Amino acid sequence: MCGIIGYIGPRLAVPILLEGLKAQEYRGYDSAGVAVLENDEIRLIRSQGKIAMLEERIGGEIGSATIGIGHTRWATHGRPSDINSHPHLDCKNEIAMVHNGIIENFVELREWLTERGHVFASQTDTEVLPHLMEHYYHGDLVEAMTQTVERLHGSYATVALCKHEPRKLVAARRDNPLIIGLGEGEYFFASDMAALIQYTRDVLILQNGDIALITEEGVTLYNDGKQIEREVHHIDWDRTAAQKGGYEHFMLKEINEQPWALGQTLKGRISGDASAVDLKELDFSPEYLKSIQKIAIVACGTAYHAGLVGKNIMEKMLRLPVEVDVASEFQTRDPLVDRHTLSIIISQSGETLDTLIALRECRKRGSKIVAICNVVDSTIAREADYVLYTWAGPEIAVASTKAYITQLMVIYMLTFYLAQHMGKADHAELRSLISQLYRVPEAAQLAIDMNDARAQELSQRMKDQSSAFFIGRGMDHCVALEGALKLKEISYIHAEAYAAGELKHGTIALIEKDVVVLALTTQSALQAKMISNIQELQSRDAFVIGVTMEGNEAVSKVCDTTLFLPQIDERLAPILSVIPMQLFAYYCAVVKDCNVDQPRNLAKSVTVL
Ligand code: AGP
Repeated sequence: MCGIIGYIGPRLAVPILLEGLKAQEYRGYDSAGVAVLENDEIRLIRSQGKIAMLEERIGGEIGSATIGIGHTRWATHGRPSDINSHPHLDCKNEIAMVHNGIIENFVELREWLTERGHVFASQTDTEVLPHLMEHYYHGDLVEAMTQTVERLHGSYATVALCKHEPRKLVAARRDNPLIIGLGEGEYFFASDMAALIQYTRDVLILQNGDIALITEEGVTLYNDGKQIEREVHHIDWDRTAAQKGGYEHFMLKEINEQPWALGQTLKGRISGDASAVDLKELDFSPEYLKSIQKIAIVACGTAYHAGLVGKNIMEKMLRLPVEVDVASEFQTRDPLVDRHTLSIIISQSGETLDTLIALRECRKRGSKIVAICNVVDSTIAREADYVLYTWAGPEIAVASTKAYITQLMVIYMLTFYLAQHMGKADHAELRSLISQLYRVPEAAQLAIDMNDARAQELSQRMKDQSSAFFIGRGMDHCVALEGALKLKEISYIHAEAYAAGELKHGTIALIEKDVVVLALTTQSALQAKMISNIQELQSRDAFVIGVTMEGNEAVSKVCDTTLFLPQIDERLAPILSVIPMQLFAYYCAVVKDCNVDQPRNLAKSVTVL
């Protein structure tokens, strides 16, 4: 997820580009750059680091350009660095482009272009764009863009500047946002409204397949080779609301981004016929795979809860022992890790110090290390032998949501990948599971739609409650732990997750009239036992909120109320069952008027011991 800005009009471009990037910095902040047309030449200034670094590099040299593009980066391919920052140029420094998204076939395109004499400077997927434009540009920018995007697999929002067409910008969009701001004799491109509000509130929202040409005279849109019209929208958000996409908090925005994030995590990682998971980042030899005797998963907090789901599915499918530890404990017990252990280190930020220390412990013991991270080129990502990125985009809210759900997606893909390569799974079963993965983004959207209003309604009940319980068995217990953490960390309501079968060994003493219990019941083999646990709670007048697949009346009839999930293979249920938990926690925090995005005492990344 990155921030794009473009401007053409009578005013100086550099200050407008910088302001537009600052307003979108939450979309990505590991490097930034601008390209403007000045004295018929492209002037390119880029800098690793936050936009303030770019501003410093520009200094007072804002020049006289009145057309330009800018980009603030959330790295996907190619570590954060000056050379990997956008905009990127063609061979002749005549075309500059910015891009948000992932070009899945950039390796093949890079080879094709290199064979034709193009020389690349960066490690990014994006850099193929200006070189493709250079290849296809014969005096018509729109035609060049049309032919360029026809070659692309993946997602993109991209804007191009060309020295031969000094008063034009051209753009294209698929699966990543791009809007056009309509000013008075000036026009803008941006990733979202936050960058435009101070200049205009009238926008065109590009749709998939749109190609846009803007000049000072106005906007021309094309789709599928034909000129088209789009409705002008008048946006009345303030800038902060725009940064949150109109949601009240980043956390709710990020919960609602989960279907998109899951799609990004999946992209390019499943074979064309959906028969295999293809993790190009891994190159385990057959001998190494045979040598693995156990798996160690280490993480903290929400990432640890993702690891617990990993234990469940990996032990079931790989028939290998899987140990999961919180990082702070792992380093205290002289862990039984050696060269026959595959270590999986999970961290959204890639900077959690406890987790980094655990990684180094595993390295000392000769273990190969796979990191699952969201922040490209973070310390943990750099120190691991392999890294599988979650591609969820920046997660701003302290409470992790889209990072967790994409960690689960990566864990499932890694499990299926290992099963494939270890010969541990029936081909037909794997094929079925992998085809289900494709449904997950759409099912996640359904889970949000089915539960948003219900969760908000149920949160009213928590206004005066001081505690809640989350129970489940097997994988449902893993998600119960995550549900409890979400509620605790943003609403400050004490919550406890419990293995449902364990309640009667003491904790059930705390159950009395109206105590709220969320009972996760997605695993059919464990359902009968869960129902009797729920009945134990009902007999003590608890208020039981069931979480189960839609249509499961056996469960819903024993609960006071139920949050339903769309049907999916129950082995993938954790990816969906966490969603009502997230929404419930969010609305409880709102009801209790808490600081949802920055809860007290917490930090987004814990880089202290
Ligand atoms: C998540 O909701 C919490 N804020 C916290 O538990 C977090 O998951 C934990 O600190 C680990 O962070 P990491 O994934 O960046 O390593």
